[in-house]
Amino acid sequence: MNDALQSLIAQRKAQTDTVILAHTYQPPEIIALADITGDSFALAKAAAKLPQKRVIMCGVRFMAESVKILAPEKEVILPAPDAGCGMARMITPEDILAWKQEHPDACVCAYINTTAAVKAVCDVCVTSSSALKIVSKLDAEEILFLPDRNLGGWIAALLPDKKITLWNGYCPVHDNLTEEQVLAAKAEHPDALLAVHPECREEVVKHADMAGSTAEIIDFALKADKPVIIGTERGVADTLTKQYPDKQFYYLCPETLTCPDMKYITPALLLAAVNGEQGEKIILDEELRLAAKKSIDRMLELG
Ligand code: 13P
Ligand code: SF4
Repeated sequence: MNDALQSLIAQRKAQTDTVILAHTYQPPEIIALADITGDSFALAKAAAKLPQKRVIMCGVRFMAESVKILAPEKEVILPAPDAGCGMARMITPEDILAWKQEHPDACVCAYINTTAAVKAVCDVCVTSSSALKIVSKLDAEEILFLPDRNLGGWIAALLPDKKITLWNGYCPVHDNLTEEQVLAAKAEHPDALLAVHPECREEVVKHADMAGSTAEIIDFALKADKPVIIGTERGVADTLTKQYPDKQFYYLCPETLTCPDMKYITPALLLAAVNGEQGEKIILDEELRLAAKKSIDRMLELG
């Protein structure tokens, strides 16, 4: 990356009291420019405590909305307004209201990969790194888990005493990975361990040595005494390979595991966003924000 661009971003950030957050799926050149990087849970926790008055979220829309929900006094900018999430588009608040009518006593548990409007009609949020802990603590006869059938099914299998009913949504990136692709990668690298995201299908997760959030996968890969096949969006392997050239990581189908929405932001676009020339300022209706905040606050309490 160009040094001049890097120092311009640093200078403009300081002048405008701005902090840059980046999800682990962002390209390595964006990760290198961020002040805080992490999985969805780490970013949500950080958002609740940021001292700066302006936040640039390098990620997708639901992540920028989560920051605004937790820190309404801040200006929150999504540099690439088209960066959405295929899974978040698979459920609407109206879908949930109808589903709740069929299960009036259930607790509604939303993956954080949902719109603010969806969170506003749910009881609690979870992320991939907090879901197991939080769902295990929910004291409800039935849990409606949405939208990810794969993450929900993974939790349901680990918590057989809970009655968990799943929405039929999925991540279009992780759900595309097949058992054949996993077996081929394992055959190609028989000495390696396999780490996957629980947004993958059960036929994939069952072959893994660990399943967890992006941050948990990074932690596992750095501590492993063997090479690791990285079974999540390619940004994780891109950054690991760049930051730790002495360690060995293998990609698992990088063509399949590319989330186009996570690749819109470039260093030049980020500079334009810091300069106030690019990006969308997130605005949420106050009533909706407060309703959505209840679900996220419950997640932060239980997670
Ligand atoms: P985590 O950040 O919780 O690992 O989730 C992955 C994801 O798909 C984010 O869009
Ligand atoms: Fe959404 Fe999947 Fe992209 Fe994550 S990887 S932002 S869940 S589409």
